[in-house]
Amino acid sequence: MIRLQITLGLVLILAASTVVLIIGVRDIATDHLTRVQDEQHARSVEVGADLFYINCSRCHGEDGKGTAGLCPPLNDRTFFESRLKDIGYAGTLRAYVNSVISSGRPVSTRPQLYAGQMPTWSNVYGGPLRPDQIDNLTDFILNWQATAMSGAQPAKPEPEKAASPEDLGKQVFQRAACIACHAIGNNGGAVGPNLTKVADDAQKFIADPNYKGQAKTPQDFIRESIMNPNAFVVPGFQPNIMPQNFGQTLKPNEIDGLVAYLSTLK
Ligand code: HEC
Ligand code: HEC
Repeated sequence: MIRLQITLGLVLILAASTVVLIIGVRDIATDHLTRVQDEQHARSVEVGADLFYINCSRCHGEDGKGTAGLCPPLNDRTFFESRLKDIGYAGTLRAYVNSVISSGRPVSTRPQLYAGQMPTWSNVYGGPLRPDQIDNLTDFILNWQATAMSGAQPAKPEPEKAASPEDLGKQVFQRAACIACHAIGNNGGAVGPNLTKVADDAQKFIADPNYKGQAKTPQDFIRESIMNPNAFVVPGFQPNIMPQNFGQTLKPNEIDGLVAYLSTLK
């Protein structure tokens, strides 16, 4: 009888410890698994952050707040909470983010808000990144969900300063490629006269007996030279080389700017 009880007791102890052991091992195993998964996720977010900085920040901003007029914010509560509903996407946010990055956005869905175009990223569609890198980027973007604020203010591009006529003229001189034919100082082409002292030269040309134009002042002479280059051909240079249609292709304020800019050069 006693022996039976002892045996029974032993069996019970054994059974109990087996159960404890099994539960313990299972817990340790799950703990371990979640830890490994957490570590893998953290690593993926880190890799995604680097990829984002290199490939995406110039449009979506380093902090994911977007660029006004060009690219939408991603680090933004509205993006996480209502974007899928707004476009009627039935899948998960992860699937959406992954697929938009993979295929790109050759046509903006909101051109009046974000006029930019997003290139294709996945090498499956001819882009530069591997699918595992797209996964890293997806992890990185979804990681913003916990902290994203609503109404992220996209960085505004520098507001255009109201340029003075001289500044505008300086810009137009570059933009209209005057500089390709005319040097100022040592900078620019030599097809046309160097314009560093154009105001002084103009004074002389007006006094030249061969001058048949209308200008009375250096400013008028410069204006005339732009609108009607053949009114006076600078000695040593050819007529009909300078485009004859700046009067049509440039706006009146651009021509005023050029005159202001060129006549203040010394
Ligand atoms: C040349 C600018 C540009 C670059 C670079 C760029 N994007 Fe975009 N991205 C856009 C534009 C434009 C949209 C589309 C906006 C729209 O459809 O309204 C967009 C949309 C997205 C969207 C969907 C946002 C939404 O609200 O639906 C995600 C996600 C995204 N980009 C991620 C990325 C990632 C990740 C990278 C880098 C691998 C990247 N983008 C690089 C311009 C860019
Ligand atoms: C393809 C070459 C070319 C381009 C581009 C060009 N020019 Fe000229 N420009 C000339 C030549 C050649 C002359 C001299 C012949 C003449 O007087 O018509 C000249 C003459 C001038 C003169 C008179 C110079 C003087 O010494 O009195 C002015 C002023 C002038 N250009 C301004 C401009 C401005 C401003 C632009 C841009 C909006 C421009 N040019 C673009 C070739 C060019």
